[in-house]
Amino acid sequence: KELIGEAENFKAQTKEEVEAYRIKYLGKKGLVKDFFAEFKNVADDQKKEFGNMVNQLKNTVSDKVTALKEEFESQEEAKGGYGDLSRPSEPIELGSRHPISLVKNQIIDIFSNIGFNVSEGPEIEDDWHNFSALNLPEYHPARDMQDTFFIQTNPDVLLRTHTSSVQVRYMEDNKPPIRTISPGRVFRNEAISSRSHCIFHQVEGLYIDKDVSFADLKQTLLYFTKEMFGKSKIRLRPSYFPFTEPSAEVDIYWGLKTETDYRITKGTGWLEIMGCGMVDPNVLTNCGIDPKEYSGFAFGMGIERIAMLLHQISDIRLFYENDARFLEQFKSAF
Ligand code: PHE
Repeated sequence: KELIGEAENFKAQTKEEVEAYRIKYLGKKGLVKDFFAEFKNVADDQKKEFGNMVNQLKNTVSDKVTALKEEFESQEEAKGGYGDLSRPSEPIELGSRHPISLVKNQIIDIFSNIGFNVSEGPEIEDDWHNFSALNLPEYHPARDMQDTFFIQTNPDVLLRTHTSSVQVRYMEDNKPPIRTISPGRVFRNEAISSRSHCIFHQVEGLYIDKDVSFADLKQTLLYFTKEMFGKSKIRLRPSYFPFTEPSAEVDIYWGLKTETDYRITKGTGWLEIMGCGMVDPNVLTNCGIDPKEYSGFAFGMGIERIAMLLHQISDIRLFYENDARFLEQFKSAF
């Protein structure tokens, strides 16, 4: 009873005093809590009265706190109206796009300027679209080039190992002329390290029309590397892909000005950035396009690899960890 009286007569000079008062009674280690803890030791015939008193104390204090807070607030308002309206507001935390999305969008922009559209397809694929249609029949040794995650065998269902599968779908559904790029996530059963991951992203391109030649491919790649990296020296090294013939690996001349240039190009100045080639006639036939009438080229690149080059990122795993300290660095990238 005494305490209730005391609580009722409480007077405060400042907001801080009100807060201290609230904590003394209602805080985590406050008196009200102590009383409730005592409840089990109170004799049965006194429990009711004791409970009432504690509740009364609790209500008295919280009413008092509300009243005093209101009083202080209205005093403040009377003094300064709404406060100083010219003060800067609280900064708002802005989010940013993921570096993979930034680079992907950059690639899409570059190719849409020369008439390529964007096509997408499923991440879970069948054998036909990921392998067979691409001139990789069953038991073909080149299948081992791509360590595949199988979801089911016989008939095979798998996680696509490249977005060439999207190109197959696109050719099946559209008539030439075809100019499309297929960005997307791909999966390979590889050991995770600073340089490779079992999930990564690709952009693959496909151009099919009458009289498309290797010169068109080269010119398109040159245009892309100029736009993307500001570098205008490329070379094509003969290579092998089952779905293109001839096939090539594209290197760009990165230069040897800095120590980083030496490291990433292993002292040669050249950097491999993608694979490409003329679409194999078998692939065209598989997708319902007559190779006597049409020809085309295809290319494919890894987005992570390009993002790592552009932004000097040394570990591919950073892309998938969602560490805000990493992601925040791309706030003003584009
Ligand atoms: N699909 C190939 C890969 O994932 C890349 C590529 C695409 C090569 C098109 C040539 C032509 O490795």
